[in-house]
Amino acid sequence: MSKSNNFNDENSNTSENPTFDSVLEQRLINRRRFLGMSLSGAAALGGMGLGLVGCSSGEILPPPVSPTATPSGSPVPSPTPTPPVAVNPIMASLGFTAVGKSLLDKVVIPAGYSYQVIYALGDPLTASTPAYKNDGSDSDYENRAGDHHDGMEYFGLDAAGKPSSSGIERGLLAMNHEATTDETRSSFFLYANGGTSTLPRPAAEVDKEVAIHGLSVVEIKATNKKWATVQASAFNRRVTPLSEVEIAGPARGNALLKTKYSADGTKTRGTINNCGTGKTPWGTFLSGEENWNGYFSRVTADDTARADKSVVALKRYGRSAGSVSRHGWETGGSDDKYARWNISKLGTSGDGTDDYRNELNGQGYIIEMDAYDKTKALKKRTALGRFAHESAAFGLLVVGQPLTVYLGDDSKNEYMYKFVSKALWSAADANPADRMATGDKYLNEGTLYVAKFNADGTGEWVELSLNNPLVKNYTTYTFADQADICVNTRLAGDAVGATKMDRPEWGGVHPVTGEYYQTLTKNENRNINPVKSTDLVPDSANPRAYTDSDGIGGKGNPNGHIIRTKEGTTVGAFNWDVYVFGAEADADKAMINLSNLTDDQDMSSPDGLAFSPSTGICWIQTDDGYYTDVTNCMMLAAIPGKVGDGASKTLSYTKADGTKLDVATKVGAAPAADKLKRFLVGPKDCEITGLCETPDGKAIFINIQHPGEGTKMADVADPSKYTSQWPSNAGYGAGKRPRSATIVITKDDGGRIGS
Ligand code: FEO
Ligand code: CA
Ligand code: CA
Repeated sequence: MSKSNNFNDENSNTSENPTFDSVLEQRLINRRRFLGMSLSGAAALGGMGLGLVGCSSGEILPPPVSPTATPSGSPVPSPTPTPPVAVNPIMASLGFTAVGKSLLDKVVIPAGYSYQVIYALGDPLTASTPAYKNDGSDSDYENRAGDHHDGMEYFGLDAAGKPSSSGIERGLLAMNHEATTDETRSSFFLYANGGTSTLPRPAAEVDKEVAIHGLSVVEIKATNKKWATVQASAFNRRVTPLSEVEIAGPARGNALLKTKYSADGTKTRGTINNCGTGKTPWGTFLSGEENWNGYFSRVTADDTARADKSVVALKRYGRSAGSVSRHGWETGGSDDKYARWNISKLGTSGDGTDDYRNELNGQGYIIEMDAYDKTKALKKRTALGRFAHESAAFGLLVVGQPLTVYLGDDSKNEYMYKFVSKALWSAADANPADRMATGDKYLNEGTLYVAKFNADGTGEWVELSLNNPLVKNYTTYTFADQADICVNTRLAGDAVGATKMDRPEWGGVHPVTGEYYQTLTKNENRNINPVKSTDLVPDSANPRAYTDSDGIGGKGNPNGHIIRTKEGTTVGAFNWDVYVFGAEADADKAMINLSNLTDDQDMSSPDGLAFSPSTGICWIQTDDGYYTDVTNCMMLAAIPGKVGDGASKTLSYTKADGTKLDVATKVGAAPAADKLKRFLVGPKDCEITGLCETPDGKAIFINIQHPGEGTKMADVADPSKYTSQWPSNAGYGAGKRPRSATIVITKDDGGRIGS
């Protein structure tokens, strides 16, 4: 059984890695020293996701914190001191018993833990919105939870409903509604008969499907340890692909952003296919726009109509002439809200203000929202580049130093990026009077870099600006200015020869070491014997190419890996290794299961990744299609070491022509049994995604996305044929149609999750 929450967590560390243990120990000493300062400050530390900060001497010190503030910014008095147990030491080992792999249509969690479903597709967000019937007859999704819950962050409230980074019983969940379960165009579970899969799409269906995308904010509250949403809360909010948002940063007002909707290029409508998230040090929500390109269509003759460099850009972003849209929303009617999904050059203007030829350039960013304040405009932070964004993970904060934000581009063969702010971090900005203005300060100006990995375990962050001759003199595409680089970031990455990665999904920053962990979920294009032009020979940072020997038999790098980087001592340099390689436990340990994963640890296609700011646990979530003959998708808890704790390894391949290919890589130390364990397995046909927690680490929230997505559209009215009936089979809500949903997990003894 799990131990209750106590300070002994640290002392149970029996790691073979004394250097890292001493770092943890030093952190604990400083944490205790810090306790003497301010309990409210300590709680704020956990709630804001601020890790400890390493100063130049190597000593680990807590970041400066400000007192909890009211929305007006006026400090509130510190609470009466409580015992030190309220503070959150980083865990040194995992206390729970690992769960086994599972194919059941249920959520499996360790003994001693409980979960509740609290927020599913269609749940009402206003007092007057009727309960969700879940039979295909529901409407008014602008006032209901959207579909495909994805990344999510927690924003605390105090008892009076004011923003509080230490609020543990009342708060807001802000989350992404990435996509919808479809087969051919139609989001079939939303309709009694499955809807219309042919073109043109009925306007009413398009309206419904648009409205289930975007973001939501919902208030949640714990009463006697039971969590529930607050249906009538004034904080509740939906943002959809039709909500007005501002373009911020270098691309604001640029010619590339001018459309019929925004002739001055300062606005666009909505956010779409939002996947990973981030939480800023000033308390706002960041959301990554991922596979937005697929919602837009282009006519076949559009290359000829344009005959300019936008043809190159559109192709690089997956919208070649003749591209068809995922849902056919452009066919909903003549109204502008449908027309905008056709991005062909249809007008006669020279600048695109009479059509939507530039509409695609309004999507693909990190968008910032103040979850506490509906009156504040959302802003697309174009300085952070445009690609298939996932999470936005902040490096450790150091007063007087720039902020660092790590970013990934989730498509096969795409790149890893980081943004470094021009503004220097000021402790007062942890509790600003105007959170979005603080976003303007840090996220509108800075330098964008892309990663190049070297075989020897080093790497470099390459600047993407016209200061870089490789960007300035690129012949495939001529960049006009920094705005052009921010809009066409992938092309700038191409120009400098960035390293093509195995689909960078989420990332997180270790709260002690500051090292960055990036999931590389999978890449079927890795091939020892390249056939297609997109096939890539394995390299040191993406060293595996194999065929799974049993079951689904995935090829390339079907199981994915997690790479980590440590900033170097010279500007732009980093060191790297692979923290863990996804694999089936019984796979070949020389070429596939390089991290020696056991049956309690094996996983495929890591996707979501987040470090708990309170416990330091690295939560790893899977979105897999190659091990699903054996197990549904899962979440694991990890306590990783650091870059360089493992060894160099050479993978020796034999090519089809009999010649040898040796790929040298860096493999992190194999995770011990108490440092990596499976914590949860989801119901059938889902992915596990999104992670946030209360600041005390005693309640974690995760999302179960698209259970039952393998259901056939023709079977929509026959529950017996659904591949999942979760969460109704867990006692939640009406109807048997599967629904994406948020769950909260607590420990039965009231302890911290993972202890
Ligand atoms: Fe939405 Fe890259 O997963
Ligand atoms: Ca297999
Ligand atoms: Ca994802």
